[in-house]
Amino acid sequence: MSELASEAMESEFGTVAGWTEEAVAALGPEYAVPAGCRGSGSEAALRWLADALAVRPGERVLDCGAGVGGPAGWLAAERGVRPVCAEPMAEAVHAGRALFRLPSVVAVSQSLPLTVDAFDVAWCLGVLCTTEEKAALLDELRRVLVPGGRLGMLVFVAEGELAPPLPEGNSFPTPDELDGLLAGAGFTVTATTRADLSDSPAEWSRRADEVDAEVERRHGEDPRWVEAQEQSGRVGRLLGSGALVPRLLVAVAG
Ligand SMILES: C[S@@+](CC[C@H](N)C(=O)[O-])C[C@H]1O[C@@H](n2cnc3c(N)ncnc32)[C@H](O)[C@@H]1O
Repeated sequence: MSELASEAMESEFGTVAGWTEEAVAALGPEYAVPAGCRGSGSEAALRWLADALAVRPGERVLDCGAGVGGPAGWLAAERGVRPVCAEPMAEAVHAGRALFRLPSVVAVSQSLPLTVDAFDVAWCLGVLCTTEEKAALLDELRRVLVPGGRLGMLVFVAEGELAPPLPEGNSFPTPDELDGLLAGAGFTVTATTRADLSDSPAEWSRRADEVDAEVERRHGEDPRWVEAQEQSGRVGRLLGSGALVPRLLVAVAG
């Protein structure tokens, strides 16, 4: 085990990240962004965050828990920035470097090898619910942002009773817990909305599906693929029940 909360997460975010890099290499570079958005999912969600964060060309941007780098690659192409990616799974960092050529570091977000006040903007998408160390993660984000710096988040929030089986290693905050964590770390929320994770152009969704099919064709028999599918299926079922809600927010560092 490395830094993550469960072996199932290591399959989902590590092994499958490496397989995703392999599939994009086979299919073509136009598959990289849809394949690389694991968790943030929809283009509309990324666009809402980029607009609400008012990201300007040349600003210093951090993507925390960047995964395979799709959201950071999308932001680089859309807003003229060069995000730094921090991500604990080495396979995902390798994939992100190969697919998007962005500066990347293997690191957990609660202990970032980055200096104080280094960034104007940070985003952290689908990561808070993957660790119990939520306060430490938000403290680190506050530390590396300049005062007045902007934080964008996608957080899966438990708004109702979550029926088992739950995805292994996840811990979903309630709305009150999330508000308390952000305030405790010195952030003031300035905008929030419920995300629609299915709101991507048809071409984007088709490419994401093709990448999944290519990974399954190559590794569908591997127990780690089965395990990763089970994990994402459990999250999908909770989202479908309405008890788990994907929330986008922008907050300003005090
Ligand atoms: C649902 S994925 C989201 C990936 C990416 N942000 C996206 O939206 O496509 C969650 C990511 O958080 C990473 N992660 C898990 N625990 C973390 C931690 N303590 N600090 C930073 N990242 C973490 C996982 O390795 C995984 O890449």
